[in-house]
Amino acid sequence: MIDTLTIRELHVSVEDKPILRGVNLDMKRGETHALMGPNGSGKSTLGLAIMGHPNYEVTSGTIELNGEDLVEMSPDERARAGVFLAFQRPIAIPGVKLADFLRHATTNVRRPDRKEGEELIPMREFRKELKGKMQQLQMDVEFARRYVNDGFSGGEMKRAEILQLAMLQPKFAILDETDSGLDADAVRLASESIAEIGREKMGLLIITHHDKLLVHNPPEFTHVMLGGRLVETGGIELANELHSEGYERIRKAYPDADAENQAMLGKIEAQPVG
Ligand SMILES: Nc1ncnc2c1ncn2[C@@H]1O[C@H](COP(=O)(O)OP(=O)(O)OP(=O)(O)O)[C@@H](O)[C@H]1O
Ligand SMILES: [Mg+2]
Repeated sequence: MIDTLTIRELHVSVEDKPILRGVNLDMKRGETHALMGPNGSGKSTLGLAIMGHPNYEVTSGTIELNGEDLVEMSPDERARAGVFLAFQRPIAIPGVKLADFLRHATTNVRRPDRKEGEELIPMREFRKELKGKMQQLQMDVEFARRYVNDGFSGGEMKRAEILQLAMLQPKFAILDETDSGLDADAVRLASESIAEIGREKMGLLIITHHDKLLVHNPPEFTHVMLGGRLVETGGIELANELHSEGYERIRKAYPDADAENQAMLGKIEAQPVG
């Protein structure tokens, strides 16, 4: 059976303000989807709602993983079920080393029945696996000794995120592109690393304004969000069009959604779990 992520008529509010207004999305494990759309259209909100961020209230609609409703689950349960989100604005955890963070997260996902306080994956076993993955991804093992996202450059945040992906091996991963600009080398490295992990093993939703990530990981589907709705879905040619032409055509074609998008702008942007 192929794993599926199915979103139906999803409405999400933040502080009682409607942001998502009926999102429908079908993903299968093994597919790569690009999610594009102008600033403030609701892309990060969709990612945060899928992960169950407490500030993002699902007012109606469903998010199902293999037919099971995620909306009723805690963020932790969703992670255990195999869903992963890389935040647009990753939080720093000073004092917690990346390796320790990954050991907890990996244990949590692999041993879903583990109770709080029970043993983690044995250190030796974990270290060996982490080292193997880091070598595969051509990362310096010293990197895992740094505190999570604490003073990380944009490129380093990306690397930490890809290492999490490699260790957690989620069924579905949502990659919300980091704010900090990545230089061409960092984007190429990130793209190659995703290919190295094997994007065909996951269902991947890539939220991006840049085309480089998509050049190396060509999406089978491109979705365009405007004013909290997915107004168009196409193939890679749609991503290419939007990269070269921008959103002018989309805005004109969907004036109501465009008006809603304009009205939403100016509010605070989606925030990571703090
Ligand atoms: N925590 C929040 N508090 C208040 N408003 C929010 C919050 N999160 C999101 N919003 C609002 O929801 C709308 C959609 O924001 P979101 O961050 O999802 O857009 P986006 O498509 O990811 O934009 P960008 O391309 O700039 O990342 C915006 O108007 C934003 O101000
Ligand atoms: Mg965003």
